[in-house]
Amino acid sequence: MTHGLWTAVDGYIVDRLVSPDPALDAALEASAAAGLPAIHVTPNQGKLLNLLARIHGARRILEIGTLGGYSTIWLARALPAGGRLITLEADPHHAAVARANLDRAGVADRVELRLGLAADSLAELVASRAEPFDFTFIDADKENTATYFDFAVRLSRSGGLIIVDNVVRGGKVLDPATADASAAGIRRFLASIAADQRVTATAIQTVGSKGYDGFVLALVARAS
Ligand code: SAH
Ligand code: DHB
Ligand code: MG
Repeated sequence: MTHGLWTAVDGYIVDRLVSPDPALDAALEASAAAGLPAIHVTPNQGKLLNLLARIHGARRILEIGTLGGYSTIWLARALPAGGRLITLEADPHHAAVARANLDRAGVADRVELRLGLAADSLAELVASRAEPFDFTFIDADKENTATYFDFAVRLSRSGGLIIVDNVVRGGKVLDPATADASAAGIRRFLASIAADQRVTATAIQTVGSKGYDGFVLALVARAS
C-alpha cells in the first residue's frame, strides 16, 4: 500500500462527501501563493473536525496553530449563532494570510486570532479566567504539545473535547531514541496523557494524502 493509493482514495472520498467550497479553496490558493507550507488538514479531516464540533455542540472553540486558517474556517462553520473561536498563531505572516482568508470566508465576526507564542497566549487566557472552551484543536509546534494539552485541559469545561493532530508521524513516534524533535515531543505528550487523571483519551492512526499520521481524542472526564 502506497502514498499514491492513499492520496487517490482521499480524492475519491472528498469528491463524494465534501462539497466544493469556494472560500476554502480560495484559502488554500492564497496560502500557497503567500508561500505558506501545505501542512493544513485535508478536506476530509477538516470536515471531520467540523462534524466533531457539531456532534459535541461546541459553542466555544480554541485552536492552537492557525497557519492560513484552513482548519479554522472548518471549525468556525461548526459554531452556532453567538459561538466564538479563538485561534493562536506565532507567525505574523501566517496570521495576516489567515485574517484575509477568514474575512473572505465570512467567519471573521466569530473568530479572534491572537498573534504570539501559543504558550504566552494560553497563559494569558488562564490569567484572564477565560470562559471555558467546549472543544480544542491542538496543531502547532509538536515539541510543545504536552504543554499546550495541559493548558487546554485547564481551559476546558468538564466534558470538553480536545483533538491533537500529528501524533503518529509516519510511525516515528515508536522510536524512543528518535532524532525527530516533533516525534520526541509527541512521545512526551503521550507519556503525560497516559498519567493524566483529568482526561480519558484514545488515538487513531490515519493514512491519506498527508501520509501516515493520527489524531488523539481526549475527553476532559475521568475514565469510565
Ligand atoms: N491548523 C492548521 C495548520 C497549522 S500548522 C490547519 O490545519 O489549517 C502549525 C502552525 O503553528 C504554523 O502556522 C506555525 O507558525 C504555528 N506555530 C508554530 N509554533 C508556534 C508557537 N510556538 N505558537 C503559536 N503558533 C505556532
Ligand atoms: C507538519 C505539521 C502539521 O501540523 C501537519 O499536520 C503536518 C506536518 C510539519 O510541521 O511538518
Ligand atoms: Mg497538523
